[in-house]
Amino acid sequence: METVLSGIRPTGNLHLGNYYGAVRSFVKMQYEYNCFFFIADWHSLTTHPTPENIQNSARTILAEYLACGLDPEKATIYIQSDVPETIELYLYLNMNTYLGELGRVTTFKEKARQQPDNVNAGLFTYPTLMAADILQHRATKVPVGKDQEQNMEMARKCARRFNNIYKTEFFPEPQNFYFAQEAVKVPGLDGTGKMGKSDGNCIYLCDEPKVIRKKVMKAVTDNGPQTPNSQKPEVIQNLFNFMKIVSSEETFNYFDEKWNDCTLRYGDMKKQIAEDVVAVIQPIQERIKEFASNQQLLDQIARRGAEKARESAAATVKEVRKIIGFRVY
Ligand code: TRP
Repeated sequence: METVLSGIRPTGNLHLGNYYGAVRSFVKMQYEYNCFFFIADWHSLTTHPTPENIQNSARTILAEYLACGLDPEKATIYIQSDVPETIELYLYLNMNTYLGELGRVTTFKEKARQQPDNVNAGLFTYPTLMAADILQHRATKVPVGKDQEQNMEMARKCARRFNNIYKTEFFPEPQNFYFAQEAVKVPGLDGTGKMGKSDGNCIYLCDEPKVIRKKVMKAVTDNGPQTPNSQKPEVIQNLFNFMKIVSSEETFNYFDEKWNDCTLRYGDMKKQIAEDVVAVIQPIQERIKEFASNQQLLDQIARRGAEKARESAAATVKEVRKIIGFRVY
């Protein structure tokens, strides 16, 4: 069975865009592949050297992913900093990675511009830590977004170069795993194309129903359909696209007909969307609260995940030591 691995940035709460995008796909993948999902808390030190309460943030994210259906019995779910074996592999990979290629990574250049007083070596070697995350489990499929393509190219380079230098075929080259066919793009309700944290237009899984209703009711619209069966302007198409995701087909068709015969009232449509969003989020939210109120269980899950991840990473590091020529113990 192929091994899938993905790292999760420990920033912020999950929103509907994450849920219908990556998270639901992860839940599906865990039944089809040998999956590793981890919270990349070390990576966050490259930009946030003094995190507020890093363990809390990691636990919060963990609770949200579990509430969405990630199953610690199916997938190995862990926190990056619980697996020290990664660092040894990171060291070996750094020995064969060159300043020139690291310096050309656009995410590095961007971050260096954003934090000119803290262009640290960790930021510079972000791609090799990511490569170590992946290669320590010899993962072959990595579900990532477009912004991670260059980091993935570096991970492949690390694998290839290690194999070349030590005349081995030990590391498979990890491939980008495009799961966009299943992922659904949730539009923003502010008229923008996409729901995203940086756009400030998110409905979060931890939003209380009254917050959700308020956010949906504020959705941008226009002054209504003027001629029968006309094409929908972009903001209205967005609203319908949104409805298609959260509501039933009957509901969608009902409002689509109202658009076509010019009797649509946006207020009614938004109310319907709000209730359907609440219906999707409420059960997840209840599970988030359950996990959050059981820190002992969260801790147990994180520990068990770390054990499994360490076992897998230790086996890889042992082989790597042998290949390079170090003592194995
Ligand atoms: N760089 C990824 C991001 O910003 C997070 C990440 C860290 C990751 N290590 C990884 C993703 C390994 C995939 C595989 O989203």
